[in-house]
Amino acid sequence: LKILTVIGARPQFIKAATISRKVALTRNISEHIIHTGQHYDENMSGIFFDELDIPTPDVNLNIGSGLHGEQTAKMLIGIEQEIIKQKPSCVLVYGDTNSTLAGTLAATKLNTPVCHVEAGLRSFNRNMPEEMNRILTDHASDTLFAPTKNAVNQLRKEGVLSNNIILSGDVMFDAALYYSSKAEASSTIMESNHLTKNNYILATVHRAENTDNLERLTRIMSELKALAQHIKVVMPIHPRTLKFLSDCNISAQNILLLEPTGYLDMIKLERNSKLIITDSGGVQKEAFFHKKPCITLRTETEWVELVEAGHNVLFPPISDNTGSLTESVQSLTSNSQHSFSNSLYGDGHSAQLILSEINQRYG
Ligand code: UD1
Ligand code: UDP
Repeated sequence: LKILTVIGARPQFIKAATISRKVALTRNISEHIIHTGQHYDENMSGIFFDELDIPTPDVNLNIGSGLHGEQTAKMLIGIEQEIIKQKPSCVLVYGDTNSTLAGTLAATKLNTPVCHVEAGLRSFNRNMPEEMNRILTDHASDTLFAPTKNAVNQLRKEGVLSNNIILSGDVMFDAALYYSSKAEASSTIMESNHLTKNNYILATVHRAENTDNLERLTRIMSELKALAQHIKVVMPIHPRTLKFLSDCNISAQNILLLEPTGYLDMIKLERNSKLIITDSGGVQKEAFFHKKPCITLRTETEWVELVEAGHNVLFPPISDNTGSLTESVQSLTSNSQHSFSNSLYGDGHSAQLILSEINQRYG
């Protein structure tokens, strides 16, 4: 069995690390990794390959940033050439980025089966670029690995054949379990930033709807600055967000801004925080994995089970939300009885399940 894996953005490196590690231990399976180059800074890409022991990509297409159509089209050209050369048994894609969509389109045009990890997620907000990437990828995929029961149900509702849907659990849970002890052993991020356990809030913001909208970004930053009057706020900052803050002259005064961190440092920051505020898909789940309450800076989330179970509270950064982030934090942290014991994302062995299923179907 030869798998051709297409990755390109930060969360995909982390997801792919879980399956690549299993491939390396399996005799009859080989993996050819294409990095599209969607993310390229050392701290958005290289660091993850180093610290998570992901094999160096066989090819880096070095596509870089650009308009959605332009970026996706350039990826499509490069991936198509690789599929023609490599003749893989299937193409493996992750999540909902432009790299995911490009891998899917290139493969389906060449009649190569597509396996989609993290299928069936929906925000029902079609203005999000990720929502269109998810819908298009799911409906072109041959095997859809759905992390949750909600995702399975959604795919069925949309008419995807039951035989093509596998409830796999979430590989990000595998990653959180596997790398937590490594993070505890090796990360020095707490000491280097003079942080102590439960004495800070961790925040990340990068979603286009928040960064590219001046009103929303201004609101988010002023809410975070107000919160920082009460408790330290630590914010590893995505390059997209940094660019907009500086272009729009929005200050981050009193907030501890960090460069984007590696995954091990991020786990350490998550595990020691009092609460997490984010608009990231992955970080919402990690808050739950590491038993931290979470506030999501969005109007909706595709990880609905977290909200339903009370682990996550939405704080839409829009003008008709007159509440304050500080009040939301206070109300969420005052509930010390909150239990995180339910299992929502599988048993931590999703990567093995996915690989075995791929082997059975395409090996
Ligand atoms: C992308 C994904 C998003 C995912 C996120 C993970 C799409 C449509 N979006 O968003 O779903 O949540 O990755 O982090 O695929 N930049 C750099 N250096 C880098 C990478 C980006 O400076 O290494 C800057 C550039 O100014 C670039 C901007 O960030 O224009 C946005 O990058 P891009 O990959 O287009 O989208 P993300 O916001 O990272
Ligand atoms: N992450 C990281 N360093 C950071 C911010 C995030 O390692 O500075 C990790 C985070 O722990 C999670 C993943 O990146 O595993 C989430 O990626 P991101 O928020 O960029 O994208 P999303 O999940 O929203 O697509």
